[in-house]
Amino acid sequence: MRSIVALLGAAGTAVGLEKFLTTDNRTSSKTYRVGPLDQVFSQGARTTVHLDGKPVLLVRRTEDVIAFDLTCTHAGCPLAYNANGGRITCACHGGAFDLNGKPVAGPPTVPLTRYACAFDNGDLLVHITGATS
Ligand code: FES
Repeated sequence: MRSIVALLGAAGTAVGLEKFLTTDNRTSSKTYRVGPLDQVFSQGARTTVHLDGKPVLLVRRTEDVIAFDLTCTHAGCPLAYNANGGRITCACHGGAFDLNGKPVAGPPTVPLTRYACAFDNGDLLVHITGATS
């Protein structure tokens, strides 16, 4: 959290939805300003955005937002949020994760990669680690 605040301090002014905000070349990380919460979650409490070319599931909770990389930790297949079961599922080998990113079915044993979230003037910020250039 402290690093995000430090990055924001150096970032300057706000930019639009899903825009790259800051970078840290030492850690290959970027912070994205995704947008105002009500706009980001206009279709419900779960939504998928693409940040740094990665599909990221955003889960709005009462007090915060959590963000997961939608790449399966078993063999790298794309994941999808399944609203009916309230799980994140993988079509490749039947893997499933709960909304805390914990594996709950199938072969995955490693939790989903979770990205730090923060807020700035009502906008959601997501800090992507392992970012590409
Ligand atoms: S790649 Fe997702 S369960 Fe195997």
